[in-house]
Amino acid sequence: MAEGSGGGAGTLAGRVAVVTGGASGIGLGLARALARRGAQVLLADLAGAEAAADMLRAEGLAAEGIAADVSSEVATAAMAEAAETRFGGLDILVNNAGIYATLTPKPFEELDLAEWRRVLEVNVMGTFLCCRAVLPAMQRRGGGRIVNISSGVAFKGNPYMAHYVASKGAVVSLTRALATELGRHGILVNSVAPGFTLSEGVLRNPVLVEGVKGPSLRGRVLARDMLPEDLTGAVCFFAGPDAAFITGQTLVVDGGAYFH
Ligand SMILES: NC(=O)c1ccc[n+]([C@@H]2O[C@H](COP(=O)([O-])OP(=O)(O)OC[C@H]3O[C@@H](n4cnc5c(N)ncnc54)[C@H](O)[C@@H]3O)[C@@H](O)[C@H]2O)c1
Repeated sequence: MAEGSGGGAGTLAGRVAVVTGGASGIGLGLARALARRGAQVLLADLAGAEAAADMLRAEGLAAEGIAADVSSEVATAAMAEAAETRFGGLDILVNNAGIYATLTPKPFEELDLAEWRRVLEVNVMGTFLCCRAVLPAMQRRGGGRIVNISSGVAFKGNPYMAHYVASKGAVVSLTRALATELGRHGILVNSVAPGFTLSEGVLRNPVLVEGVKGPSLRGRVLARDMLPEDLTGAVCFFAGPDAAFITGQTLVVDGGAYFH
């Protein structure tokens, strides 16, 4: 059954979700899927979040947008506050914002320190800051769901992106640590680890497409390209009622490339 054909409709009715990096690519696909299941969704992104929300509203979905850099403490606090102000609460956070598609693969000894710092700052510290920002709002709701987008590279240790691989390994570990700490608040924290996905950002990076697309496809049991829609089921599952007793887990969604 294809995404959008109605699977899970209404399962997130009454829920408010924040999707970081929601203006494009995988994040926009996830925001659309959450909204199709009945959630009101706040898209947060460096740019383009309001235009993306306009597009979702034109599809009859409940969405708003806010400009936010996830590596900013001030911006992430404002993001959480906006969800409560605009929608009356906050139940679901999808930490999807990340630096990947703009990276150029290179040997680790050639990685620029400033680039290393920025990747860790956005992918790891950004996830931490967003989790911390939404905590009071989720506590006011009596619980919540956090879904962190990590990556299959955390398990495979792919070459030529050591900063990115390290950052996604940290996201897996952070997921476990936060699950342990936040369970007592009824907040469940899980992670989805995608394989190589033809997102908008990836499609704009010919080096990545040429270098990774072929090997990824050949390495999968399900031998076809992976699209943002392939991730929506796992993320909506972790955000929804069927995952009420699952926390601290990472689900690899990659067409059967890595068995975790
Ligand atoms: N595409 C893949 O092959 C793949 C595989 C595994 C994991 N992922 C992860 O999935 C997520 C989405 O990837 P994508 O391929 O859709 O990338 P993308 O580049 O297409 O989209 C990323 C989005 O995040 C936003 N963003 C970047 N930095 C931000 C910041 N500091 N604050 C707020 N927003 C910010 C960008 O503006 C963009 O809209 C990332 O976390 C990425 O690491 C992607």
